[in-house]
Amino acid sequence: MGTLSSSAVEGTAAEVLVRADTLGAISEEPARLTRRLATPALARAGDLVARWMTEAGLTVRRDAIGNVVGRLGNADVPPLVLGSHLDTVPDAGRYDGALGILLALAVVQRLRARDALPDALEVAAFADEEGARFGVPYLGSSAYAGRFERDWLDLADVEGVTLRDALGELGGDPESLVSLPEPRLAGYLEAHIEQGPVLEREGFPVGVVSAIAGQTRAVLTIRGRPGHAGTSPMAGRHDALVAASELVLAVERYGRESDGLVATVGSLTVSPGASNVIPGEARLSLDVRHADDEALGQAVAGLRHAATRIVTTRGVELDWTTLQSTPAVELTPALRVRLASAVAAAGLEARSLASGAGHDAVVLARICPAAMLFVRCAGGISHDPRESVAQADVAVAIDVLEHAVVGA
Ligand code: HGY
Ligand code: MN
Ligand code: MN
Repeated sequence: MGTLSSSAVEGTAAEVLVRADTLGAISEEPARLTRRLATPALARAGDLVARWMTEAGLTVRRDAIGNVVGRLGNADVPPLVLGSHLDTVPDAGRYDGALGILLALAVVQRLRARDALPDALEVAAFADEEGARFGVPYLGSSAYAGRFERDWLDLADVEGVTLRDALGELGGDPESLVSLPEPRLAGYLEAHIEQGPVLEREGFPVGVVSAIAGQTRAVLTIRGRPGHAGTSPMAGRHDALVAASELVLAVERYGRESDGLVATVGSLTVSPGASNVIPGEARLSLDVRHADDEALGQAVAGLRHAATRIVTTRGVELDWTTLQSTPAVELTPALRVRLASAVAAAGLEARSLASGAGHDAVVLARICPAAMLFVRCAGGISHDPRESVAQADVAVAIDVLEHAVVGA
């Protein structure tokens, strides 16, 4: 972990990387970075970010889902918002989400140092973009945007804990989320690691995001017939795990055979989960994405047909619950031009590229102009502790974001 000499200039790439190390050490688990919604670890990370925001001269507020928002300037002027998410996936890298928050703070520090702050600005650290605990992404930014849906409070994690109870245990008032108003915003700019190989392969430190793929997330529960592994003949079994395994392979095959589609089973739980019991139930997550909404819809329908065929053949039952389906989002042309001009002002070519990963900009784009700056990451690796960025690229990202804010 890096350390900062006291003489370090605020708002530098070095400071951003040291802070990413510090933030990356705040986890639910001792040996790896996992920081999910409505956990004490996320609250501790929120405390640290709130302190950094205060030190940068921002007035901080926190809502019942755990968003941490720093504001400066005229309260009557719709602010430009910079930010990203504070939560992570299990066994995460330390830059997915966090880098966008830290870059935003660096820009505020730099603009304050040269007395160039805009009339109104907010830095947002969203509490849940990944959906890692409750399956539905963007709960933090949805609350911030006044788009929180009451039935999300009844979402349960794998231990059966509801979002309502988890937030309540942390001292928040979950019901308040449902009545949060839609804020008046001038626009939203999010910097984020690319989480893909394009910028590295083509030699660009940063890129301007054109669009974000649509995604459908579902939970599939397959119910078979549990039985004794030693006394049940192979013929006539209704093994939920074998049916699920056939379905996992069908999902992969469907993804491989469909242009532009990615389809993933990220988690599979089996019960009762004993070596001498034929599995009675298997629960799979399904994540399907495509840049084109019609193609995404067709793929989900095709996968549902394949799942139905498999369970019928094997004499088991299927429960398919779609948790959320978010359409593809084209980011705002005028704000993309603003970012591209800032990239050009840094003497660089503005590579435009689409995002296969989801981002909070999907939600913010529903209520204000939104754009994203991608930062090159080593090997395109993400959702993995090997995730990393180069200090020189972080420095470019700060310059570009600062220029875009001043111009925005
Ligand atoms: O899953 C995603 O697309 C993002 O990392 N939340
Ligand atoms: Mn992520
Ligand atoms: Mn992310």
